[in-house]
Formats: sequence, structure tokens, C-alpha cells
Amino acid sequence: MYLLLSKRKVITLCLVFSLIQFFTNCTERIVTPPQAGPTKYDFKVPGGFPLPNFNHDNQITNEGVALGKMLFYDQILSSNGMTCSSCHDPAKSFSSGNFVAGSGEKINVPHFINLSFNKSYFWNGLHRFPEEIPLRYFESEFFDTNKDSLINRLAAHAIYPSMFKNAFDVSNIYALTYDQLKQKISFGLIQYVRTLVSANSKFDQFRQKKLVLSPEEQIGMVIFFTEKGDCFHCHTEPLFADNDYHNNGLDSVYESLNKGRFLVTQHSDDIGKFRTPTLRNIELTGPYMHDGRFKTLDEVIDFYNSGVKNSNTIDPIMTKNQKLKGLNLNVYDKACLIAFLKTFTDSEFMEKHKN
Ligand code: HEC
Ligand code: HEC
Repeated sequence: MYLLLSKRKVITLCLVFSLIQFFTNCTERIVTPPQAGPTKYDFKVPGGFPLPNFNHDNQITNEGVALGKMLFYDQILSSNGMTCSSCHDPAKSFSSGNFVAGSGEKINVPHFINLSFNKSYFWNGLHRFPEEIPLRYFESEFFDTNKDSLINRLAAHAIYPSMFKNAFDVSNIYALTYDQLKQKISFGLIQYVRTLVSANSKFDQFRQKKLVLSPEEQIGMVIFFTEKGDCFHCHTEPLFADNDYHNNGLDSVYESLNKGRFLVTQHSDDIGKFRTPTLRNIELTGPYMHDGRFKTLDEVIDFYNSGVKNSNTIDPIMTKNQKLKGLNLNVYDKACLIAFLKTFTDSEFMEKHKN
């Protein structure tokens, strides 16, 4: 049938066909504009690490991280000049000196590193997701108790309105309820915190056979990974934390905040237990322990060597092989163990996250 058409008809048909194609293309272009909006952040899980504990309501995007990073260091959120970095100081691997809780008891500021690989947050593991933390606790210092001034400050800012638009598709900050605004701020802040991944310490490079450890560091490593020091049972590779709770023998009697995990579960077995903190970057994050009772790593090692106290809930690892009598580390052993702990420092991370 095609063959029967005259040359002219064929040309006309072709023309009509191309015109139809042209218009369909045009309409297609009009109907589906290229998708704008936040772009997925390329979160790389370091080799050997467990699966991250993401919050599916708060997907990490490049634009969310950029907003969170700017807010983290900005006084604009607070009514008293404070920033998140006042306590979570990048120069100390996002920790700092002591923070006094409302009750007057001291809670040490934990450092941020590899937080997405934790299964709970806070020393006693009260929180399942880090997103809950800024939302719940920082009302008086942050987010200004006068919500209108917070909204006005952000909406009048030269850059924030477009950053909120890019990260969370907020066209008008004034149109958000206060709760919606706080949620977006918290989500952005935690997206940034989740990007603080460390896996390139001297020890990691040693594991990858890129360098050798000094003789002292090697002696320290043996103490750490054998029954002699027995640190590795709780401070387990690769996080140097085990996502579990232990009483490591700091006290014999546990009162108020020192009751630790008990305050979350109300199980008497949990009195004095705390989430094992990571030892990555530990050289930089003193003071140490949930209440910051030890100023230096020397004090920490002296405690593990000869200061462990017995109680009903003390971890069996702390008492086995007559350990309550002490680890019997001499001055040289202790120095070697500290030298080894310092191989957990990740200079690349520190350089990258310098503010
Ligand atoms: C005044 C000091 C202070 C400021 C400012 C502060 N924090 Fe904290 N932060 C703490 C303390 C103390 C803890 C530990 C509380 C606990 O475990 O009971 C903590 C814990 C956290 C944790 C959980 C960490 C973990 O490993 O369990 C996150 C996440 C966090 N803060 C985020 C933020 C963000 C985001 C900001 C800014 C909005 C901020 N913090 C501002 C003191 C502070
Ligand atoms: C039974 C489990 C367990 C063992 C074994 C153990 N730790 Fe710990 N470690 C913990 C817990 C839990 C904490 C937090 C306790 C607290 O803050 O109350 C902690 C805290 C620390 C801290 C302070 C961390 C910080 O961020 O403040 C250092 C440093 C440390 N341990 C090093 C070691 C070394 C070195 C060894 C071996 C000699 C060791 N630990 C053995 C469970 C353990």
C-alpha cells in the first residue's frame, strides 16, 4: 500500500509525521521539566563497618547537609549567642569540656564520630535517633523561646531562605508552623552530623598495611587486644564501641545520673551501665567518661589498671581472672597503651572538618 502512494503524498505524510513528532517532543518537554530538588548525599560506608542506622524520615541530601553545616556554627538559632559548636567543638572532634545538666550534675559532651553506626544516643542510650535530640532539648538555649524572632531572623537572612528551599522545598519560612520549622532545622543539623565519618586513623592505615606501628604502639596494641588489658571486648573494632551497655566499675554505689541505663529501662540490672563510647579520636576528646571525671588518658588508664570498683552490676569482663586486683600494667606498659590509643586519631578527619 505504501508503495502505491505518489512521491508527493509521501513527502506530505513525512512532513505531517515530523510535525507531530516535533509537537509531541515540545509538549513532553513542557509537561516534564527537569526535576529540581535536593540531591542524594553520597554516604560511603567504610569497608568493614556495619550497616548505618539511618532515619528514613530524614534522608541525607547535599542541600540538607549544606544547610545543617551552616546552622551548626551559627548563633542565629540561639537567643544567647551559643552555637552547637560551642559544646560540639570540631577542634576536639566535636566534644568539649563539661556540660552542667539542669539538675546541677555534670554530663560530659560526647564527641561526634560515626554517629550513624550507633544504635542509640546519649550516654545512657535514651534516644533511638539523633534527630530527636536538638528537637527535644534545646528550646531555651536554641530555637529562641520567642518563636517569632527565630522565624524573622531566618526569613530576613540573605541566604537561609534559599537554603531551606533547596533542602526541604520550603518556599516561605513564614508559612511553616513553629514545630515544622524546628523539625527542618533539626533534620538539617543531623544530616550534617551524620557526614562526620572517620575511618582513616593511623590504626586504619596500619590495618591496610600502609604503615607500621612503632614498637611502643605495638606493645600497646597487644595489651589492648589480649586478656592483659582486655579493652577490645567492649571497645570492639571497627567502631571501637560495641553498641551495648556496660558497668566498667567506675563506682561502687550509683546515685542519680550515675545510674546510667537504669534511668531508661528501670531494670536494676542496668544500674551503672553506660553505652560503650567509641575510642576513635580519643586523644582529642578529654575530659573522659559520662561525667568527665578523668581529665587525661593517663587518669583513665590508671583507673582501668588499679581503680576499678566492685558492685552488683559490674561487667563480668572487669572481674574475671582476678582482675579486680588490677591489670598489673607497669609505667612502660601504660605509656605503650596510651601510645596505641593515640593511633585512633584521624588527622584527615580533623583537617577536613576544621571550621
Ligand atoms: C551546652 C552544651 C551543648 C550544646 C550547645 C549542644 N549540645 Fe549536643 N550534647 C551535649 C551533651 C552534654 C550531650 C550528652 C547528653 C547525654 O548523653 O545525656 C549531647 C549530646 C548530643 C547528641 C548525641 C550524641 C551521642 O553520641 O549520643 C547529639 C546528636 C547532639 N548533642 C546534637 C547537638 C546539636 C545538633 C546541637 C545544636 C543545636 C547541640 N547538640 C548543642 C551538650 C550540648
Ligand atoms: C566491660 C566493658 C569495657 C571494657 C573491658 C573497657 N571499657 Fe572503656 N569504657 C566502657 C564504658 C561503658 C565506658 C563509658 C563509661 C562511663 O562513661 O561511665 C568506657 C569509657 C572509656 C574511655 C572514655 C571514653 C570517653 O569518650 O570519655 C576510655 C578512654 C576507655 N574506656 C578506654 C578503655 C581501655 C583502654 C580499656 C582496656 C584497658 C577499656 N576501656 C576497657 C566499657 C569498657
